[in-house]
Amino acid sequence: MGLVTSTEMFKKAYEGGYAVGAFNVNNMEIIQGIVGAAEAEQAPLILQVSAGARKYANPVYLRKLVEAAVETTGLDICLHLDHGDDFDICKSCVDSGFTSVMIDGSKHPFDENLALTKKVVEYAHDHGVVVEAELGKLAGIEDAVNVADRDSTFTDPDEAVEFVERSGCDSLAVTIGTSHGAFKFKGEPQLDFERLYKISELLPGFPLVLHGASSVPKEFVDLCNQYGGQIPGAKGVPEDMLRKAAKSGVCKINIDTDLRLAMTASIRQVFIENPEYFDPRQYLGPGRNAIKAMVAHKIKNVLGCSHKR
Ligand code: G3H
Ligand code: 13P
Ligand code: ZN
Repeated sequence: MGLVTSTEMFKKAYEGGYAVGAFNVNNMEIIQGIVGAAEAEQAPLILQVSAGARKYANPVYLRKLVEAAVETTGLDICLHLDHGDDFDICKSCVDSGFTSVMIDGSKHPFDENLALTKKVVEYAHDHGVVVEAELGKLAGIEDAVNVADRDSTFTDPDEAVEFVERSGCDSLAVTIGTSHGAFKFKGEPQLDFERLYKISELLPGFPLVLHGASSVPKEFVDLCNQYGGQIPGAKGVPEDMLRKAAKSGVCKINIDTDLRLAMTASIRQVFIENPEYFDPRQYLGPGRNAIKAMVAHKIKNVLGCSHKR
C-alpha cells in the first residue's frame, strides 16, 4: 500500500486489454472525488499534477493531499507529473516523492527530445521513478487535414521504436488525432487507428499513453450552458474509440477536461438553484460528488479497469 510506480499497473492493463485512468488534480475536492470513485470501484489509479496545478496549489499541498488519500483509503496510487517540460521540474518531482514523471519534449526536434528524455530517464531510474515521454505533436485531426500534415505532427511508428529503444522511457504518449481541451473536433470525431495499431505492433508489450482523451459528454456541456456557461460547439473523443484504444496497447488514458466540466456544471447548477448559498461547502461538496460520478463512469464504462487493483 502507498505511492507506487505505474509499472505493475501497466503490465496488468496491457495483458488485460484495459487502460488505467490518469486524472488531473488541482485541489482537495478533486482528489477526494477521484479517489472515492477508485476506492468504490477497486480500480488502479494515477493522479497527475501539471505545472499549472503546482503553481496554483503549491506542490507540497498536492503531495500531502495525495498522501492523505493513500492513508485514508489504503489504495495504491501512482503520483505522476503531467507534461514536465524541462529537466528541473522532473527532478523536483522525483526528489519530492513522485513515483512517475512525464518529460514532454515533443515540441523539440527528435534528437533534442531524445537527449532531454534520456537525461530525465537516467535521473528518475536512479531514484526508482518511471518516465513517460512524448513523440509527435498533440494536434487534433482537424489541424492535420492532409497526409503530409499528419505525418509531420502525428507519431511516426518507426521513430517511436527508435525513440523508445534509445531513450529507455517506460511509456510513450503518442499522437493520433486527440488534443487537449473541450474543442477537439470541428467535424466528425476521427482518430488515426491504423497508426496506433502500427505503433503497438512494432512495440509489443510496451505501454502507450493517450493524452487529450476527454469525451466532453454532451449532457455536461448542455448543463454548463443551461446554467449560464458559454461553451457551444464543444466536442470530445467518443467513448467507444477510447475503449478501442485501450485494447490496442494504450495503458494510460488522460482525463482532465471532463472533470472540469462535471465539477463546473454542478457548481453552476447549485448557484442557479440556490442563489442564497455562500458557504463553500455547499457548492464544493456537490462539485466533489460530480467528480466522483464522472470518474466512476470512466472506470466502469470506458477504461474497463473496475476491480483490477
Ligand atoms: O494537459 C493539460 C492538462 O489538462 C492540465 O492542464 O496545464 O491547465 O493544469 P493545466
Ligand atoms: P483532456 O483535456 O482531453 O482532458 O486531456 C487531458 C490531458 O491530456 C492531460 O495531460
Ligand atoms: Zn496531456
